[in-house]
Amino acid sequence: MKNAINIIKTSLKHAAGKAFGDRLLNFEPSVANASNANFGDFQCNSAMALAKELKLAPRAIAEQLVSNLEPNAAFETPSIAGAGFINIKLKQEFLEAQLNEVMNDRRLGVCSASAPKNVIIDMSSPNIAKEMHVGHLRSTIIGDSIARTFEFLGHKVLKLNHVGDWGTQFGMLIAELKEQFPAALTTAEALDLGDLVDFYKQSKKHFDEDVEFKARAHQEVVRLQSNDPDSKKAWHLLCNQSRRAFDELYRILDIQHLNERGESFYNDMLADTVNELMSKGVAVEDQGAKCVFLDGYLNEEGKPLPLIVQKKDGGFNYAATDIAALRFRVEHDNADEIIYVVGAEQALHLQMMIKAAHKAGWVSENVRTEHVGFGAVLGEDGKKLKTRSGETVRLKDLLDEAVQHAREDLESRLKEKDKVETEEWKSEISQMIGIAAVKYADLSLNRMTNYVFSFKRMLSLQGNTAPFMMYAYVRVRGIGREGAIDLSKLDKNSQIILGHPSEFELAKQILRFEDVLQDVTESFLPNRICEYLFDLSQKFNHFYEFCPVLSAEEPLRTSRLILCELTAQTISIGMSLLGIKVPERM
Ligand code: ARG
Repeated sequence: MKNAINIIKTSLKHAAGKAFGDRLLNFEPSVANASNANFGDFQCNSAMALAKELKLAPRAIAEQLVSNLEPNAAFETPSIAGAGFINIKLKQEFLEAQLNEVMNDRRLGVCSASAPKNVIIDMSSPNIAKEMHVGHLRSTIIGDSIARTFEFLGHKVLKLNHVGDWGTQFGMLIAELKEQFPAALTTAEALDLGDLVDFYKQSKKHFDEDVEFKARAHQEVVRLQSNDPDSKKAWHLLCNQSRRAFDELYRILDIQHLNERGESFYNDMLADTVNELMSKGVAVEDQGAKCVFLDGYLNEEGKPLPLIVQKKDGGFNYAATDIAALRFRVEHDNADEIIYVVGAEQALHLQMMIKAAHKAGWVSENVRTEHVGFGAVLGEDGKKLKTRSGETVRLKDLLDEAVQHAREDLESRLKEKDKVETEEWKSEISQMIGIAAVKYADLSLNRMTNYVFSFKRMLSLQGNTAPFMMYAYVRVRGIGREGAIDLSKLDKNSQIILGHPSEFELAKQILRFEDVLQDVTESFLPNRICEYLFDLSQKFNHFYEFCPVLSAEEPLRTSRLILCELTAQTISIGMSLLGIKVPERM
């Protein structure tokens, strides 16, 4: 209903011109959704803001604005409340006409961007030879949903997996494997990810405790970084090993077109990047290391906080890689927006490296860089999610368990209803519900909050959960199916009648979809899609309670069936933007 807001704003501007002439040249009315539906659909509070400038009482200004409005097709003559709030109600015919437009459009009337942007989403980004943890899971799920939303709105999206595949950890791992299991360095698939993680842990221990081992590990890093063929081969094998495990998770989570561009990709650019930072005076030498100091960034003792780009031993680090990557994304990928979906604990690192790249002149003002942070995943005890024995939870186990729980719920529902289903169907549906539940639980909360991981809650049929939304979809679709309505075959001008207030409310909610998606590309808060869908399903329930559908007389019957279908399609597309498929029955 972006349209509606625009129409209202333009009309108010005209009215202001007529009422106050030159005194209000650059007037931009502020129009927002009404906080209380009883007052109307939209509200304009501009009269208050103009009082000082016009030296008039707000109420008098509001009256002038309203009395100078031209008659129009979109909204009724507004009412004025309190000190000067202008309450605007849309005309029924206007909504009916808009619904007619949405009805025959596969994109539900959502426009495709007229100036598509190149959007890069830095997401998932686990580390080789380590388990992917719940933080990576959040980044993957949130990043994917943001990506899908941008894509749906017609933008070009490049999803990048900034995998940790370079640096000291490989020196340690190679040194360890040379001693313990050399075959892993020359033969494919000699290890699985679990073994690799164990070797990695051992190597870390050796590295911290044994000086000679530490020196050997360093030599291995140098060999790898100087492109020694044997080291490179071993590195490839190790990366592939991890990659296989990661890919399996991406398959389960239905993450598509995620391009791996790990830290190693930028290796050849690091020396230049640091040299240029030095020659531009952005980085300086400090106690042997090369560092960037930025205004306002202080450590706990109030001293300038360095962003280290090259360590004393000459090694380039995480920050150097991120700066080189940012530069590459701007210069080479022509990114208009670069979105980092990374845990909130890396906020300082990201802020500083982005500022450093700006300072070096590598990011122009019209490129938007944004850290989309998120909180931690907690266990039901309120502490960071761990297994019973205190280990990091393996994501594969977590997802398997979700599917297992979904299966149990499904079995018990079937039993209650005395229904028999095929094994194939049951396993497909429980897979769908289990994964959807994990995704939706993550996406339905404001990403900055720490969220408590609870299978019971995420699989509940009550409340704002995936199963609830899926069920809502199945029910609404069922009505449409029973009424045998095919929107694509209906006359484009089929009459839509919004007689009952609940029909009116449902229609408005359906038409709000585009606004919500636009909002997500600004706020990067996919939970707004969940809230919207939840609201939609409640408005639908309300409608269904008061408005019989299948037993209504024509033309009301068709009109109501259209509302059902549009609701179902909106849920289905909305869920798909969360990365969730909806079943036709469950
Ligand atoms: N590999 C990092 C980690 O596991 C995340 C990388 C995030 N992306 C970035 N461009 N720094 O913490």
